[in-house]
Amino acid sequence: MGAECFRVESASATSMFNHLLRTFVIVICLTGCGSGGNTDFTSQPTSATRQSQKKSAPPLVVSAASDRGPSILAWEKVEALPEQIAVFDHVFWEPDDTKSLRELVRTTDLVHKKSVLEIGTASGIVSLCCSQAGAGKVVATDINPWAVRNAAYNPELLNFGDRMEVRLVSQKQPQAWAVILREERFDVIISNPPWEPGNTTRVEDFAFYFRLIKSIVSGLPEHLNPGGQAFLAYGHVPAIRRLRTLLQKNNFPFRTRDERLLDELPDSFLPGMLTEVRLHDTFASP
Ligand SMILES: C[S@@+](CC[C@H](N)C(=O)[O-])C[C@H]1O[C@@H](n2cnc3c(N)ncnc32)[C@H](O)[C@@H]1O
Repeated sequence: MGAECFRVESASATSMFNHLLRTFVIVICLTGCGSGGNTDFTSQPTSATRQSQKKSAPPLVVSAASDRGPSILAWEKVEALPEQIAVFDHVFWEPDDTKSLRELVRTTDLVHKKSVLEIGTASGIVSLCCSQAGAGKVVATDINPWAVRNAAYNPELLNFGDRMEVRLVSQKQPQAWAVILREERFDVIISNPPWEPGNTTRVEDFAFYFRLIKSIVSGLPEHLNPGGQAFLAYGHVPAIRRLRTLLQKNNFPFRTRDERLLDELPDSFLPGMLTEVRLHDTFASP
C-alpha cells in the first residue's frame, strides 16, 4: 500500500505533502513494526472509542479504488485549529452550520476547563474546536461509523487524543443518550442535529433526517450539570420552529443567539442559527 492509495481532493501542495508523509510513516509503522493496526474498513467498528484508538495508530484510510471503505475526501482548514483536518467520504461537512457556535467557543470561556458533550459530531469539527479552546474533556458521539472513524482520526493529528473521546451510537438504539452513562453529566452539551423528515438508506442520510432532536431535548435535565448550557445549531427554518415548540412544551428556558428573524429567512440558510437552552439558570448573564 502506498501513498498514492489516498484520495485527497482539496489540499494545498505543502500540506498535502505533509499529510502524505505522515501517512507514509504510519504505513511503515503498521506494516513494519507489526502493531496490528486495523486497515480493514469492511468491518463496521463496534466501539471506536478513544480506548480502542489508544491501542493502535489513527486508522488508516485506504483508497476508495479498493472499495473497502471510506477514503479521505478532503483536507479542510478550520479557523481556530492549528492544522487542517481530514473529512472522510460519507461524512457530513458543512462548516457554516456551526459557524456561530465555533465563534462563541473561540471567543469566550464557554468551554474552558468544562466537560462537553457533542451529539452527532461527524468529522469532529466542533468538538475539536472545543478541545482547542481548552475544554477539560470532550465526548463526541455519532451513529455513522465512518463519522466515528473520522472524528477519532482528527484528534490524533492535532494531539488532542487524550482529551477527546468518540463513541459510536448503535443503529439499533439510536437515542441521543444511548452511549451516555446514566450518571454522566456535562457542563456544555452541543449539537447540530439532523433536520429533515425522511428515511435513512445510506449512512450519510443520518446527517439529515430529523428524529434526534426530541431525544436530545428529553435527556437534557438528566445530563446537564447545574448551571450548564446546551447549544443547538440549525440552518433550517422548519427545524428551528419545531425545536422552539419542543422547548416550550417542556418548559425549558431558551434564547436565540442570532439577530436574524426566521420569517425573513429561506427554509434552508447559512450560517446556522444558534439556540441556547439553560435549565437551571436565568439568561441574565451573557
Ligand atoms: C447535521 S450533521 C452535523 C455534524 C457536525 N456536528 C457538524 O456540524 O459538522 C448531524 C450528525 O448527526 C449524526 N447523527 C444522526 N443520528 C444520530 C444519533 N442517533 N446519534 C448520534 N449521532 C447521530 C449524523 O450521522 C451526522 O453526522
